[in-house]
Amino acid sequence: MSEFDLTVRGGTIVTAAGETKGDIGVKDGVIAEIAEGLAPGAEDIDASGKLVFPGGIDGHCHIEQLSSFGVMNADDFYTASVSAAHGGTTTVVPFAAQHRGDSVSEVVKAYRALAEEKAAIDYHFHIIVTDPTEEVLTKELPPLIESGFHTLKLFLTYDLMKVDDYQTLQVMEVARKHGALIVAHAENNEMIRWTIEKLVNGGNTAPKFHAVSHPRLAEAEATHRLIALARFIDVPVMIFHVTTREAMEEIRRAQEAGFKVYAETCTQYLVLTADDLDRPGSEGAKYCCSPPLRDESDVEAMWQGLSDGTFQTLSSDHAPYAYDETGKLTAGDNPTFKQIPNGLPGLELRMPILFSEGVKKGRIDLPKFVELTSTGVARLYGLYPQKGELAVGSDADIAVWDPEAKKTITDDMMHDNTGYTPFAGRTVDGWPQYVISRGRVIIRDGVADMEPGSGRTAKRELSDEAKPLGHLEPEMDPAKSFGAQLRD
Ligand code: URP
Ligand code: ZN
Ligand code: ZN
Repeated sequence: MSEFDLTVRGGTIVTAAGETKGDIGVKDGVIAEIAEGLAPGAEDIDASGKLVFPGGIDGHCHIEQLSSFGVMNADDFYTASVSAAHGGTTTVVPFAAQHRGDSVSEVVKAYRALAEEKAAIDYHFHIIVTDPTEEVLTKELPPLIESGFHTLKLFLTYDLMKVDDYQTLQVMEVARKHGALIVAHAENNEMIRWTIEKLVNGGNTAPKFHAVSHPRLAEAEATHRLIALARFIDVPVMIFHVTTREAMEEIRRAQEAGFKVYAETCTQYLVLTADDLDRPGSEGAKYCCSPPLRDESDVEAMWQGLSDGTFQTLSSDHAPYAYDETGKLTAGDNPTFKQIPNGLPGLELRMPILFSEGVKKGRIDLPKFVELTSTGVARLYGLYPQKGELAVGSDADIAVWDPEAKKTITDDMMHDNTGYTPFAGRTVDGWPQYVISRGRVIIRDGVADMEPGSGRTAKRELSDEAKPLGHLEPEMDPAKSFGAQLRD
């Protein structure tokens, strides 16, 4: 009988720390040995000429979620799992979304039940807090955080979801005390509201005006404000989906000053621009997301932020709506930009596009690719080293990547439920040939073998990255009499 259930042999093993040649032996779903010349396992994958990556982790994606527009995502946990896996992703961190009036504990229970029934890759959740009542802050969140939900998400915009600065401080205080990282959508709601009104009054309602309606300053201002609030409370913060150079510079400044400020950008901001919103008819609706697509110089800035370490992760912000009356066109065939649910599908192409546009074009190296798509996400959200690593004892979540595979993207190649991809027509260089989740080969040459419900809740701990810095602003320092009254 073979020593291993599965071996992946002869590939170039790539981690965030570097590259080595070797074989991986898997037993009972975990990596049991990494060495050269391992004997074949019960199942043996020949990875010669291939790259062997830790399975991808998408740290920002919306699955089976009622959106900020009150429209349901097109994907459930099964279709999202299958789509993610086809592109090399083996773990997702979507959202358990509280809407106003909801009990957070009930919301978490409901999302967990959906995932337990249908997910076919592993998962955990960020909790979206939209209604931080006394009950939520003092009774519901503390035990949830302590049981592993180490990220709380806040929206600074969207009428149905937004919290004000006072509420932000309240949630930050709970996060600091009980051990959670704040993750946030940072745009100034009032600047957007004001601009929308001007555009609509002027009759400027085509999809392309969506980009105009979310001013770049709205993103930079909210990013700056969120960082200031986080510094005030001394809680680490992750800025989601950065799109502009100015917002990125706010983040970099805070990082250089030593604050625990993290950030991500998303696949769409690396290859698409606001020009994509100006397509014939209502086609631009397919490209409506928030923050919106920007311009070429922002695209360059985002690549810079990925390579220089300003961004720790690359996410998809998969927010799937079909291009029909159930999704993008709920308001009819000619919606105004205001009526179009925001969000793009992207779980499946996150890793292939970053590989093709980043590694193949020399913008990032292989270890950086692994850090951005897997290891960095695992570290930040406390999944490491069970996830995001190729090491003895880690889960055998592996993507065996063919660096020479070439594919031209079409809508019907995709496995999510939207029926379209905003990346159609692009050719990508490199594609996963095998994808392995806890030792099970779930994708083999483009064919999925995935059971609904086979995904598990990943274990999570509070990461060092998410712990408070311990640096208090002078007026909050308990050593000073005033601060002592503020802090317990
Ligand atoms: O347009 C987007 N990003 N939709 C999803 C909700 C969000 O803002 O994260
Ligand atoms: Zn967002
Ligand atoms: Zn999002």
